[in-house]
Amino acid sequence: MIKLAPSILSADFCALGEDITEVQTGGADYLHVDVMDGVFVPNISIGIPVVKSVRKHTDMFLDVHLMITKPHRYVEEFCRAGADLVVFHVEADEPQDLLSAIETVRACGKKVGLAVKPKTPAEVVLPYLSLLDLVLVMTVEPGFGGQKFMEDMLPKIQTIRSHIEHNHLTCELEVDGGIDVHTSPFVKEAGANVLVAGSAVFREEDRAAAIRAIREA
Ligand code: DX5
Ligand code: ZN
Repeated sequence: MIKLAPSILSADFCALGEDITEVQTGGADYLHVDVMDGVFVPNISIGIPVVKSVRKHTDMFLDVHLMITKPHRYVEEFCRAGADLVVFHVEADEPQDLLSAIETVRACGKKVGLAVKPKTPAEVVLPYLSLLDLVLVMTVEPGFGGQKFMEDMLPKIQTIRSHIEHNHLTCELEVDGGIDVHTSPFVKEAGANVLVAGSAVFREEDRAAAIRAIREA
């Protein structure tokens, strides 16, 4: 079963409530929220107050992707703000702080995931998989929507999928960046089961049709 997670980075922030309602009624599974600090990535997006407002507006599953440095400082606040899943980068903190952030999210009763940038090999995240609900493979350099899918990430997705199967783990495998009707068949084939799509959903007039097309491609 393939899950679709529209990224609000490509939504209209002046019409965010309506955009969210459209993807919710359009059959989206998760709502992907991209948080950027201008340090870990060369862009600044949205943060805790927006997650709180979104939480009040919808009961959708909120998948919060933190592209921030030293995420252990903020994971608890994102849980309190209403995240259902908090994902942060394996490159963004020291191993002991990653482990403590994982524990903090669990103690808040929320799901937890780790993300890997394109240049980071799968081997860096494999030791954490048994502790996670989800692993996110970036298929573009994090920071901006609308970039071109990096085909050379497919072997990394396959490696992580094999490790999940081999060790009978329940960890979901999410991909993020450049996902559309053309690239979706490749990531599904490689083993991804949660597909983030920003521009490919929100640039379309009919969001429900876009979600269906990416899921079924
Ligand atoms: C990029 C973000 C993505 C972004 C994807 O750093 O993590 O979630 O919104 O946008 P598209 O689907 O347009 O590549
Ligand atoms: Zn993202």
